[in-house]
Amino acid sequence: MNIPIFWRGLNASKNYLDLLVWLELKPLLLFNSLKKITIMARQFTNIAFTEGVKTAQTRYGSREIYQKFLKRGVTEDLLTAKETEFIAARDSFYMGTVNSNNYPYIQFRGGATGFLKVLDETTLGFVDFVGNLQYLSVGNLLENERIFLFLMDYAHRRRLKIWGRAQVIDDNPELLEQLSDPDYQAEKARVILIQVEAFDWNCPQHIPMRYSEADVAQIKAPLEARIQELEQQLALSVNS
Ligand SMILES: Cc1cc2nc3c(=O)[nH]c(=O)nc-3n(C[C@H](O)[C@H](O)[C@H](O)COP(=O)(O)O)c2cc1C
Repeated sequence: MNIPIFWRGLNASKNYLDLLVWLELKPLLLFNSLKKITIMARQFTNIAFTEGVKTAQTRYGSREIYQKFLKRGVTEDLLTAKETEFIAARDSFYMGTVNSNNYPYIQFRGGATGFLKVLDETTLGFVDFVGNLQYLSVGNLLENERIFLFLMDYAHRRRLKIWGRAQVIDDNPELLEQLSDPDYQAEKARVILIQVEAFDWNCPQHIPMRYSEADVAQIKAPLEARIQELEQQLALSVNS
């Protein structure tokens, strides 16, 4: 169940939020209590709920709800089949790094579908292609390994946020080969390996539905076949 617990405006009712939090966590709580697993706060909250964020939650009235969310938390963030499948279907993502002037920086990464690969439940890797030689993302990572990936599925209005630490690998041709997509035309420069520390799904709200060229071709195929069929019928009836 993908209950949109972060789907709220500033005016959302606290009770409504509480209900959403409870609905999301109920099955996990039942599962965890059955298995007697120690319940921990979700890892992303340890990274993302900074003092500033907690102050904002207090100021706008959601702190209490998220404190409950933390108490009822779930186990550590390991990539499951759901995330793996989602990542494998992506042909691009946005990548956030931080520079030593404390500015965030976002860059787009694109490639063959599935070019960002899940190597295990906490590791991702991809081949970084040659670009404009500014090396902004890579340079940032050399000074600060923290990385944030934002994966969008516009067609199905889904988004996944991933926090981690990245390693820039320049000298491992075997790994570069392993992570490469042979049919995709690009000049391969290096491997970026990401140790995933946390992730979180967002709700579909405000995501415009957009389709890739391949999606559109798939949608159009039966329509084009039908048009062709009707044109043939029309030609036959005109000629008869
Ligand atoms: C020849 C060439 C020129 C490019 N010029 C630009 C540019 O002017 N602005 C830009 O944002 N991206 C440009 N790109 C794309 C970026 O180089 C690419 O997105 C790269 O991944 C940027 O990574 P970085 O921002 O992490 O350094 C260019 C790519 C190539 C191959």
